[in-house]
Amino acid sequence: TTPKPAAGLRITVTAGPTREPLDPVRYLTNRSSGKMGFALAEAAQALGASVTLISGPVTLETPHGVRRVDVTTADDMLAAAQQSVQKGCDLFISSAAVADYKAASYAEHKLKKQNGEETLTLTLVKNPDIVATIAAGERRPTVVGFAAETQDVEHYALDKLTRKKLDMIVANQVGANEGFDSDDNAVTLYWQAEGGVKAHELPLQSKVSLAHALLHEILRVNAASLAP
Ligand code: C5P
Repeated sequence: TTPKPAAGLRITVTAGPTREPLDPVRYLTNRSSGKMGFALAEAAQALGASVTLISGPVTLETPHGVRRVDVTTADDMLAAAQQSVQKGCDLFISSAAVADYKAASYAEHKLKKQNGEETLTLTLVKNPDIVATIAAGERRPTVVGFAAETQDVEHYALDKLTRKKLDMIVANQVGANEGFDSDDNAVTLYWQAEGGVKAHELPLQSKVSLAHALLHEILRVNAASLAP
C-alpha cells in the first residue's frame, strides 16, 4: 500500500466565525457556516494527517478522528492556535472568519435603550490577527490563509499574502452560489514562487471535493518545507 500523502503531518485548521460579546445577551459576529474549514479538517484526516480543528460557534459535527477545540472569541481562538503550534504543527490553515473588532468594554448587564436617544455609539477595538501572529511566530508552520472578497479579489488576496507573510492564500469571490452558507465554492490559490506569483484555479465544486483538491495542491507546492 502507498503511504497517504499527509501521513506524519500535523495540521491545524481554524474554522467558523468568532463571536464577540457586547453584553450578556448580544454579540458581534461574521457570517460563516464553518463548512469549508470542517471539510478541510476531514480531508486532511483522510489523507493521513493528525488534525486539530479550532472552531468558533457552528452547528456542524466533528469529522471522524479529528481533535476539535471549541472557542468563542478571537482572543480565545488565538490562544488555542498558539497552543496548537506550541505542541507541534507543520501546516496551519486559517479558514475562520475572525471578527476584526470587539467591544472596547463588555457590559456586565444588558445595555438599555436610552429614552430620547435615536442613536447609540459603540466603541470597538481591533482584534489580534491570528494568522499573521502565527506566521510571525518563532515556531512557524507552513501557513495558508483565506481571502473572501466581494470585489478586486486578486488584488486584495495578493496584498494579504504579502502583508500577513503567508505561504499561500485561497481567494474566493463571495456572491450568489459561492462562499458563506453555500455547499459549493470556487477558489484561486496564489503563492510566491521564483519568478513571481503563481496561481492555480479550482472551479466551482462542493466544499468537500474542493477541500481535497486544495490539500493536494498545498502539499504539492510546499512539499519541500513539509517534508518530514
Ligand atoms: O484580513 P482578512 O480578515 O480578510 O484576512 C483573511 C485571512 O486572515 C483569513 O485566513 C482569516 O482566517 C485570517 N484572519 C485571522 N485573524 C483575524 C482576521 C483574519 O486569522 N483577526
